[in-house]
Amino acid sequence: MLGRRAREGIRRDEPGAFLPASGAVAMTAIRGDGRRAIHLGTAWYPEHWPEDRWPIDVRLMAEAGMTVVRVGEFAWSSLQPEPERWDLDWLERAIALLAENGIATVVGTPTAAPPAWLVAAQPDVLAVDASGHRVQFGNRCHYCVNSPEFHAASTRLVQAMGRRFGANAGVIGWQLDNEYNRTCYCDRCRAGFQAYLADAYGSLDALNDAWSTRYWSQTYGSWDQIPIPREARADGSQPLPAFHNPGLLLDFRRFVTASYRRFQRLQLDALRPLVPATAWVTHNFMDWYDGYDHYEMTADLDIAAWDWYVGMGRHDHLTSGAAHDLIRGLKRRNFWLMETQPGSVNWRPINTVTDRGEARAMAWHAIGHGADAVLYWQWRSAPGGQEQYHGTIVDPSGRPRPIFEEIRRLGAELASAAGILAGSEPRANAAILNSYDSRWSIGWQPHHRDFDYVGLLRQYYRPLAARNVSVDVISADAPLDGYDLVIAPALIVMTERRAAALRRYVESGGHLVLTVRSAMKDDHNALLPARQPGPLATIAGVEVDEFFPLLDPVPVLADGGVFPPGTSGFARLWAERLQVIDPATEIMACYGPSNGWLDGHPAVTLRRWGDGRVYFVGACLDEALQDLVLARVAAEAGLRPVLETPPGVEAARRSGGPEGEAIVLINHDRERALVRLPVPSWDHLAGRAVDGSIELAPYGVALLTPRDRSADRDRGTR
Ligand code: GAL
Repeated sequence: MLGRRAREGIRRDEPGAFLPASGAVAMTAIRGDGRRAIHLGTAWYPEHWPEDRWPIDVRLMAEAGMTVVRVGEFAWSSLQPEPERWDLDWLERAIALLAENGIATVVGTPTAAPPAWLVAAQPDVLAVDASGHRVQFGNRCHYCVNSPEFHAASTRLVQAMGRRFGANAGVIGWQLDNEYNRTCYCDRCRAGFQAYLADAYGSLDALNDAWSTRYWSQTYGSWDQIPIPREARADGSQPLPAFHNPGLLLDFRRFVTASYRRFQRLQLDALRPLVPATAWVTHNFMDWYDGYDHYEMTADLDIAAWDWYVGMGRHDHLTSGAAHDLIRGLKRRNFWLMETQPGSVNWRPINTVTDRGEARAMAWHAIGHGADAVLYWQWRSAPGGQEQYHGTIVDPSGRPRPIFEEIRRLGAELASAAGILAGSEPRANAAILNSYDSRWSIGWQPHHRDFDYVGLLRQYYRPLAARNVSVDVISADAPLDGYDLVIAPALIVMTERRAAALRRYVESGGHLVLTVRSAMKDDHNALLPARQPGPLATIAGVEVDEFFPLLDPVPVLADGGVFPPGTSGFARLWAERLQVIDPATEIMACYGPSNGWLDGHPAVTLRRWGDGRVYFVGACLDEALQDLVLARVAAEAGLRPVLETPPGVEAARRSGGPEGEAIVLINHDRERALVRLPVPSWDHLAGRAVDGSIELAPYGVALLTPRDRSADRDRGTR
């Protein structure tokens, strides 16, 4: 081993190089450690390295304060080099080494990397892309999610791994596959889609009716006539399905969701009997990826997890905050940040490195939003493979990169924060509804090139988050009890169930915001036989008699009434002409002169229902006016900021921990910032009392709990 280290140029002063192995940590202790407050870790691919290097890496991980490592993901060809040859021993040794150093393991099932022998034996395991070509071997995620041969091989592999590692006390959890992301258009998937439709509709008459197939003579006389919506843009890059039937498109996405869910269940069914109840199973999702419905996919998993990459430039916490909240909303509980970048990625036009201190601030930001683990991708640059340039913690020479020190600091902080954050979670009184069917529907027919469902959702999120008002991003079908404010951006697919839930919510005193492109479609993506907002018109007190994609901004006048005199702004992208249908409806803003149709008509309205309210925001407002409207709406709903902070400083709260509420205060800027504190506090990261105000360095972080004299005495500060 020493010879190897000498060859790799490891110096005596390299951190961790000569640390004693911590054999004292019994493997049974690891499983208890699964409930540690916040994990720090990394993705490690031990199969890329000679085994005599492993102890150095693992000791470095321990020195950085890492408590968990994810392994196995993509290692299919190393675990099963041939159909009948298995080699699981090396992974068992890696898990044991981690455990000896006090580090728990998450095992990834490597099904995103079907090996060459499988593809050679069963070529149609490979997926077919949107232009009809079978994808080549040589990348990853190249499988057809409905291939029975792939299912069989995956089940066999997962069972073998479950049998070997399921009862291993070092293993606290499992990640299935990696970032499910491909849509396959092969003939088998087409037949599967047809069978799915037959099951969903029961009769062709029902399907023809739901899809309005008389249009362009698309009436189907047998299930096998139904196409899979396979088309490509002229450059062959992306599917352009907009000219398929809208009902067919929506059902196809549901079929893709069902296909992935079935594949995921195969793995779950193989694994669950082999792992103890304490071990959880997850998948690493990609925030706003919309290839399938994430609420369906996470229904079968124990926890949600995701991979956060900023890519180019610096992160914007108002954008990433919404993504964290989206993932927390998948299961309405804390999540794992399964991958994040240590420095840079390798796949953007300019792969900028995070500023010094920024990665630590980003980790705390994720924790503030409910992350119970932060894992960096990846530990060390592999010598070959497609991702040679990606940011890592250890460089190709085997020595820690500069960011190692920042991560080590984070590790020490997380260890000391365990007593504050254990069992805590963010709690929000405001919710933003997210709906995949609405997003898909608008995505296929945006009607304005720049209309973006997620962009609109973020326009509602940002003014609240900028004020440190906590928000849950939840499914449009989730229960709404307990929220003071619910915002439903572009909830275009309005089922009876959704309408009834929203009506009940308002009638029981909730404040609801409806926006442009609300309630226009039914569950089959067909137009409702009503004006927007369809079944919600009565509680909204308005209806839309025309909608306008905008070339140029349209003035919006909001002076008088609830806003200060002279308040104005403009609508951009989209404006809806509102007609008041109930004398109790209040007009909060009107359109100024533009195309003649909109002039003088209401743009934003309010209808009160007892304690409940329905706002209808009929335009995409400019940022300043949107901010004013949301500030007003939040104040009326009684929402309070976690803390008032200067721009660029975020305050996030986690409640229910051993010391009650804790506030994570993060300066996301390169400048120092001063934050006034309403109560004497204790900063657990600096280990000091703070009164009146706290100064945060660039990217500075504080973890605050309110202080009282007895606590001061205990800590010896007086
Ligand atoms: C993720 C993926 C990782 C790695 C990373 C690079 O999407 O899960 O395996 O490729 O991107 O940024």
